[in-house]
Amino acid sequence: MILVTGAGGALGQLVAGELAGRDDVVLGTRTPRSTAERRVDFDDPSSLDFTGVDTLLLISAGYGEDDVVIARHDAAISAAERAGVRHIVYTSLSGDGDHLAYALAHRWTERRLGRSPLAWTILRNGLYAEFLAGIAAPGPDGTIAAPLGEGRLAAVARADLAAVAARVAVEPERHAGRVYELVGERALGGSELAAAIGGSYEPCSLGATREAITGAGQALPYQVPMLVGTYSVIAGGFLDGSGIEDNALRTLLGREPRPALEVYEAVVAAARTAAEV
Ligand SMILES: NC(=O)c1ccc[n+]([C@@H]2O[C@H](COP(=O)([O-])OP(=O)(O)OC[C@H]3O[C@@H](n4cnc5c(N)ncnc54)[C@H](OP(=O)(O)O)[C@@H]3O)[C@@H](O)[C@H]2O)c1
Repeated sequence: MILVTGAGGALGQLVAGELAGRDDVVLGTRTPRSTAERRVDFDDPSSLDFTGVDTLLLISAGYGEDDVVIARHDAAISAAERAGVRHIVYTSLSGDGDHLAYALAHRWTERRLGRSPLAWTILRNGLYAEFLAGIAAPGPDGTIAAPLGEGRLAAVARADLAAVAARVAVEPERHAGRVYELVGERALGGSELAAAIGGSYEPCSLGATREAITGAGQALPYQVPMLVGTYSVIAGGFLDGSGIEDNALRTLLGREPRPALEVYEAVVAAARTAAEV
């Protein structure tokens, strides 16, 4: 049996779609909506019974301080060890992302898996093209004001990462002990994004962005340095794909990856339509 955690999240839903129709898949989520789904909440040990599970697709449960995220992943892996799960497939962060604030919990989890007696596969996911559409969203006049400098991001379509995760989860033995880098094949910067949507790119400073994020009052305290740091790492040229030696995306997909620019354009178009309604 394959159990997918975080099945209600954006990545998890796409993975569930990839695995639809199989009778050996259980969807784990904090909020089950049907009897086919099982309650799995890493913050609640009573929900972590993985009896009968052969392969656990552990979708990282970010969105928290490091100690919170680490405790979640540790709880999930420990429960898998207790239940006799054979293989854990973990969605991590690309190898060029070590300067990102959220890298630490991913690397901790990779190390935890490396010390586990269970078989494992690590999917080092690049940043989503959908996420790029969020941090480089154009204003109403088409201006992208973001502190990306001349930096570019090798963003990857979330659906492609879901397809890879599903493929690996159904044949885990073939991928045991492997660490796969999964990043976009073409890096995108502010100018390319602006050209694609008929807008303009106006680089701004990290300081101004930090003030804007804080002032908007929507980010939790730990999220402010995470977001500002993400811009900084992209601007610093660390996430343009050049630091990745062996990008496994195309091989594991078995087809051409979806262009990140296409995803960006689609997200921006959808946001514009929603704004008009
Ligand atoms: N590569 C990137 O660009 C990028 C961007 C953002 C986040 N991430 C990471 O990748 C993960 C998946 O991305 P996504 O797009 O699916 O994010 P998402 O839509 O925000 O979904 C995250 C999911 O994590 C699960 N989760 C949260 N707390 C949990 C807990 N205590 N126990 C078990 N599951 C928990 C939840 O699943 P249920 O609702 O089913 O319980 C939640 O819906 C994120 O959690 C984050 O760690 C990557």
